[in-house]
Amino acid sequence: MISFDSKEQIFYLETQNTTYAMCVFHNQVLVHLYWGKRINPTLKNDYCLKFKRRTLTGFDCGEFSTEDMPLEYSTYGNADTRLPSFGAVYSDGSRISKLIYKGYKIVKGKPSLEGLPATYCVDENEAETLIIQLFDSVKTVDVYLSYTVFDELDAITRSVKIVNNGERLLLNTALSATVDFYGMDESDILHLDGTWCRERHITRRRIVHGNQNIDSRSGASSAYHNPFIAICDKDATENHGDVYGFSLVYSGNFTAGVELNAYNCARAYIGINPFEFEFVLENGESLQTPEAVLTYSLEGLGGMSRIYHKLYRTRLCRGKYRDAERFVLINNWEATYFNFDEAKLVEIAKKASEIGVDTMVLDDGWFGARNTDKAGLGDWYENPDRLPNGLKSLADKVNSLGMRFGLWFEPEMVNPDSDLYRKHPDWVLHVESRESSLVRNQLTLDLSRKDVCDYIIEAVSAVLNKANIEYVKWDMNRYMTEAGSALLPPEKQGEVMHRYMLGLYYVLETITNRFPNVLFESCASGGGRFDPGMLYYMPQTWTSDDSDAVERLMIQYGTSIVYPYSAMGAHVSACPNHQVSRTTPFRMRCNVAMPGQFGFELDLNKCTEKELETARQAIIEYKELQHIFHKGDCYRLKSPFETNLSVIQFISEDKNTVVVCIDSKKAIPNAPNEYIRLEGLDDNAVYSLDGEIYGGDYLMNRGIVFINDVEYKSLRLILKKYR
Ligand code: DGJ
Repeated sequence: MISFDSKEQIFYLETQNTTYAMCVFHNQVLVHLYWGKRINPTLKNDYCLKFKRRTLTGFDCGEFSTEDMPLEYSTYGNADTRLPSFGAVYSDGSRISKLIYKGYKIVKGKPSLEGLPATYCVDENEAETLIIQLFDSVKTVDVYLSYTVFDELDAITRSVKIVNNGERLLLNTALSATVDFYGMDESDILHLDGTWCRERHITRRRIVHGNQNIDSRSGASSAYHNPFIAICDKDATENHGDVYGFSLVYSGNFTAGVELNAYNCARAYIGINPFEFEFVLENGESLQTPEAVLTYSLEGLGGMSRIYHKLYRTRLCRGKYRDAERFVLINNWEATYFNFDEAKLVEIAKKASEIGVDTMVLDDGWFGARNTDKAGLGDWYENPDRLPNGLKSLADKVNSLGMRFGLWFEPEMVNPDSDLYRKHPDWVLHVESRESSLVRNQLTLDLSRKDVCDYIIEAVSAVLNKANIEYVKWDMNRYMTEAGSALLPPEKQGEVMHRYMLGLYYVLETITNRFPNVLFESCASGGGRFDPGMLYYMPQTWTSDDSDAVERLMIQYGTSIVYPYSAMGAHVSACPNHQVSRTTPFRMRCNVAMPGQFGFELDLNKCTEKELETARQAIIEYKELQHIFHKGDCYRLKSPFETNLSVIQFISEDKNTVVVCIDSKKAIPNAPNEYIRLEGLDDNAVYSLDGEIYGGDYLMNRGIVFINDVEYKSLRLILKKYR
């Protein structure tokens, strides 16, 4: 619910469990008043200014310093020296802006964001949106702050639209959200970091005075940092304590962090990275920022994650496969790499169909002169050496086994050794007379150009129209360097990376709308672009190129801080594992992949009968439990970052079935009993487990006993509510 107390000039944004409040102060500055557990709407306008301090940066209205105030959307150059929400250089060279309140409106539902992915509502009664207009009177810039309140889903989204009504300006900072909190010196910041094959490991550290920042400068949200931070009470755990989440629906360069000032006011911020960002706005032009999704949980990190899971699963992901059961697929990449032909692929598909796999995905190497990774990207037509009979012949053969056929693309890229590059050398991101850095022998196409985007749309569409292709893996295997565009004038070169994202989103919007029956999975050398922006177009992402079961425990656990298991592609691969050479039991590999979008990535013809039987059983089990993993509530019971175990619990939507996934990274000799306390059960209900009966209260207060005595022990416990 959104309301405005006109006497106190206070806006209240209320979800089921939270209140967010801000006021128009008497100098017309928009001031942040409160965000946290839901409270009665009885705040006073001057709560924000209880103390008058000596300041060196000057006073506003002769009585207070904006430096000392919690601001909703701030600027630099006045009395506030903190990192600003907004910054611009004007045609006279001045860099000062001052944003003053002008008015507001409240609308039902949630307007979409032009050209950008965002959460949405299905029924306009699900959400309300407050749009507050601020303006800079000297430079005639309007800034519209949008706040959407998802009442039941317990989330508030924020985004900003900047409209220039004056002379040309150069926007250099346009964050999606900043929130100023007091008393945050005893808090932690948590973020998800890593690199290729080691994505989204958890970092948690105390907030200290100064700026603590994570960001991306690589042109993709990246594996280095995910576009997300949480600010948590220092004592917050998985189940208890205040946790504030900030997640950005964007796939490009972002910044996120928190700056704690001398008065223990912490400014948390998230948005497009101002680093190297410059966007020219002529008179009448505007810029829409990406959406920041803000969540507050009193139930610790687990509570925050469950809010994100539900919101992203149901109101960010779209299309037919948002709710439909996805595919159990086999992908040939780790089975063959580039060494395949039609007969070999059909053999793999045959074996897969025998054990219940329903989709065969042909990965890299089917197009152009792609016999290695040195050539062919950009040439989206069959490689005659590989598939002399064409894709249709292969797809038909796979279909005749009762399976769907899926295909890999990497449409944003080009090899210099390709027909496309030979024809259009200026279609890549580059800077004239500078050498372009090659990564995996490839360059990035310039998606800030409409002609390039349209080429991609038509090239991919032509292939999808050629055969019965029901799944697409959309890969992207390098970050951007020398990110200049041949089409943009010099003063607009600072727009390239953002314009690339707008181009990519245009391409994805067009293709996914054109092919609504195709299930799209995004990938960026694994999880190098696992973000809410991509999930808007493609409901699942290949979580990591690291398919080792032990490494996956950490990667998937970290990913689940923000993203639901339904978004995580997870496959069983061969051992010794191709990334870390570890050998783990086949059953453990199945178990670890199972809560995600389950599949296989190995040559099943090389498996033993016993392994095939394990795989067959795992598929049956997965099909039974899939709805619980993907639509139920997820509780993280033990962290593989802190213990030898990973324990994840899922409760079905009807609350009648509980699945506990226990996996050991390392056994302990003569191991002690470990008690694993379950969460979220009904205290007064009775649950059955392996023929025994347990009370919900017992299971939550004492727990299930587990003995970590065997290397890579891996259990799936299924409890049924008995009465
Ligand atoms: C990187 C992906 O993450 C892999 O799964 C595979 O598709 C390769 N690219 C193919 O080049």
